[in-house]
Amino acid sequence: MHTDNSRHGHSLIRNHQHSERDSSELDLTNFLEKDDDEESSALEDVIAACLFYKTYTLNTGIYRRLKHIDDLSARHRDMVSSLGTIDKIKEAERLVRENQKFLQKLVYASSVGSTPDSENDQEAFRQWHKAFFEFRKASGRPPVVEHHMEKVYSTLKQFVRDWANEGKEEREQTYGPLLEALESEFAHVQPNQRGKLRVLVPGAGLGRLAYEICCRGFSSQGNEFSYFMLFASNFILNKSLVTNQHTIYPFVHQFSNVVCANDQMRKITVPDVLPSSLPFAESAEFSMTAGDFIEIYSAEDEKERWDAIVTCFFMDTAKNVLDYLDTMWSAMKPGAVWINLGPLLWHFDNVANESSIELTRDEFIELVKKVGFELDEKHFADCVSVSYTANDRSMLQYTYRAFMCVARKPHTKD
Ligand SMILES: C[S@@+](CC[C@H](N)C(=O)[O-])C[C@H]1O[C@@H](n2cnc3c(N)ncnc32)[C@H](O)[C@@H]1O
Repeated sequence: MHTDNSRHGHSLIRNHQHSERDSSELDLTNFLEKDDDEESSALEDVIAACLFYKTYTLNTGIYRRLKHIDDLSARHRDMVSSLGTIDKIKEAERLVRENQKFLQKLVYASSVGSTPDSENDQEAFRQWHKAFFEFRKASGRPPVVEHHMEKVYSTLKQFVRDWANEGKEEREQTYGPLLEALESEFAHVQPNQRGKLRVLVPGAGLGRLAYEICCRGFSSQGNEFSYFMLFASNFILNKSLVTNQHTIYPFVHQFSNVVCANDQMRKITVPDVLPSSLPFAESAEFSMTAGDFIEIYSAEDEKERWDAIVTCFFMDTAKNVLDYLDTMWSAMKPGAVWINLGPLLWHFDNVANESSIELTRDEFIELVKKVGFELDEKHFADCVSVSYTANDRSMLQYTYRAFMCVARKPHTKD
């Protein structure tokens, strides 16, 4: 726990993939000495991607573009330079360096110490950083793989969705209806009594939805298995000291569909609220678990523990959504409610060597009923327009026609 008051604490309390790690935060300090098991190499890949961000992005994104301009004929080069295009790319280089500082802090927060502010801390991190790269080199693995770097870029945008003023509209569109449905479900319970109600948020991303649920008085637990998300949520929830403490440039990598350079270079500050200072109801608890949703919540000790489950852009991350539904069913108390909003962008569709069951929305709803859930027809919404980590100034916009459903586990299954 790293907030002053343990009620407010966001704790990576359990990692069910590796039960020997039962600490209050990810323990990266010793993993360099660990055997190369699957989990530590996944963790290592994520750290490598964060620490290699600048080198990779400058080489593949910035210097390449400068070279393309350099290769132009003198006449074309002069014309392009006169537009300020070279200066723009050089500014992007500077901002990539700034992003790197942020990413370093993020890794640091889950590894060596709290925030690398003092000289001593910085030195400790430098040493750790060096040891990491030597370890990585000795392992013979590539410094970073492209799809991990894409995840670094998307994690930066995820900060906008969850923890920046600029994400407010997207949060209202998406989290708004879920929060409203949850509050209306428990409208008969006074906010100061809601702490007894336990709400689970699987696939919690950077944790804002789980946090907002706690702000409304419920005890809430987010669950997440991506180290990118866990590093980022740990950093924001546990280490933030003031609002707008950190500056990032999440759109700097996007050179297409840009109206003007200022849009691409614009800074975003996070967090828009200070997670530790908001008034939670006395009894409300807040936590995050690290690990696979099915593995953690199908365990015997999670059986019938939850009053509500809230899923947002999560159900389509399943290879077999029945495994998710069965897990939810088992974890929910009789009478508990499940509130869901999202599209069906099946994540494993067309992924080589992975199985995937892709259902239509109608098939999905039928399946939910077959599992035994009672669908609340009056809360079903078949077309909720929502975006996901959108850059609102881009010439290209994606909108999902997501659906929302509310379903209950009956007190007795017929
Ligand atoms: C599309 S994102 C949505 C994140 C968040 N709910 C939001 O709306 O911003 C789906 C999230 O689910 C997580 N996830 C996918 N499968 C998971 C699993 N089996 N257990 C835990 N988390 C999972 C992913 O890492 C990812 O962060």
